[in-house]
Amino acid sequence: MPEATLADAAPLSRCRTPTLAVVVPTYNEAENVPILVARLEQALAGIDWELIFVDDDSPDGTAQRVRAIACTNPHLRVLQRIGRRGLSSACIEGMLATSAPFVAVMDADLQHDEGLLPEMLRLLRSEPLDLVVGSRYVSGGEVGTWDRRRASMSRLATRLGQRLIKADLKDPMSGFFMLRAEVLQGCVRDMSAVGYKILLDLFATHPGPLRFRELPYRFRPREAGQSKLDNAVLWEYLLMLIQKWIGPMIPARFIAFSLIGASGVLVHMLVLWLAFKLAGSSFLVGQTIAALVAMTSNFFLNNLLTYSDMRLRGWDLLRGWLSFVAACSIGALANVGIASWLFQAHSFWVLSALAGILVGAVWNYAVTAVYTWKRPKAA
Ligand code: GDD
Ligand code: MN
Repeated sequence: MPEATLADAAPLSRCRTPTLAVVVPTYNEAENVPILVARLEQALAGIDWELIFVDDDSPDGTAQRVRAIACTNPHLRVLQRIGRRGLSSACIEGMLATSAPFVAVMDADLQHDEGLLPEMLRLLRSEPLDLVVGSRYVSGGEVGTWDRRRASMSRLATRLGQRLIKADLKDPMSGFFMLRAEVLQGCVRDMSAVGYKILLDLFATHPGPLRFRELPYRFRPREAGQSKLDNAVLWEYLLMLIQKWIGPMIPARFIAFSLIGASGVLVHMLVLWLAFKLAGSSFLVGQTIAALVAMTSNFFLNNLLTYSDMRLRGWDLLRGWLSFVAACSIGALANVGIASWLFQAHSFWVLSALAGILVGAVWNYAVTAVYTWKRPKAA
């Protein structure tokens, strides 16, 4: 009999799996790692636990720092992802890397209160709950020292999120929670895994309501390093909401790509107006310049937003731009070709134009997804 089957059959008492896995996503958190480990060590005394750092190849050597501490601390593991970025996907992959029955997620920057973990575990073990959430918005919880912009951004995101999930979760933006591992395993394939909002994703994806409890804590100020929450994160959040709203049939990236495509139409019109109407160029020259400028702006916006997790840099930008313009030029031909063919056949001009645009957009998206933003070899 293969060994795995033997292990499968082991009775629970012989099971060597830790009870709790704490998953910590990291990007440039080397300085915070030793402090977090020491605090967890204290908070989790008496519990059989492991700590999984999921590091996206941080330039500050976070993964190496974890390995150095792991030499003397068997609780620690590191999952180092090459050529990838993304908080949600990091958390998911970390949670799937353990066989512990209970899994917690928390930030590395010491903003979450590790003192809550034993109580979260106790609740999950003793009550019929799937999930316990560390919450800043139930009584006793606090957001700590936030500037006004960040606080109002968080409030808006929270309200939108609550609409999406139809559960009375006061802090759906929380990045601090503990759950039964099988809850994740049951719905992980349907999660969107983009952006920052893993908890929302979980609630929105889980078939049937989740049984949860919220525990208050005070969101502490960051100790070292910087927050990675920026405007791109907000954008990803909006995408996730749209994605959940229209369903999994249409990929989130295609939605982003199409929205940016629509912005390209405005750019095109503006440039054409400037060249043709103001500068007095011929229509053909104006139209060509406008198309090039629009494609270029689409390329950079897509590189920034649609493919923020696999952004092209340096010389790759030039190669990417060339392939993008080539692909979109063929897409434009297909667009015009199909539209005029349909128009000749049926003469519904709006429908013909829309069909042409759709075919062009799908073509552009499909081709640039393969040739412009290639998956890195290591992934
Ligand atoms: N692996 C990986 N990859 N980790 C990342 C990435 C990434 O692309 N981006 C951020 N992290 C890690 C950080 O290193 C940190 O440990 C944690 O994820 C949270 O990132 P921060 O940049 O500190 O986020 P924040 O403090 O602004 O946001 C926190 O509060 C939000 C609520 O307002 C997080 O807890 C969010 O999850 C939470 O929604
Ligand atoms: Mn933080």
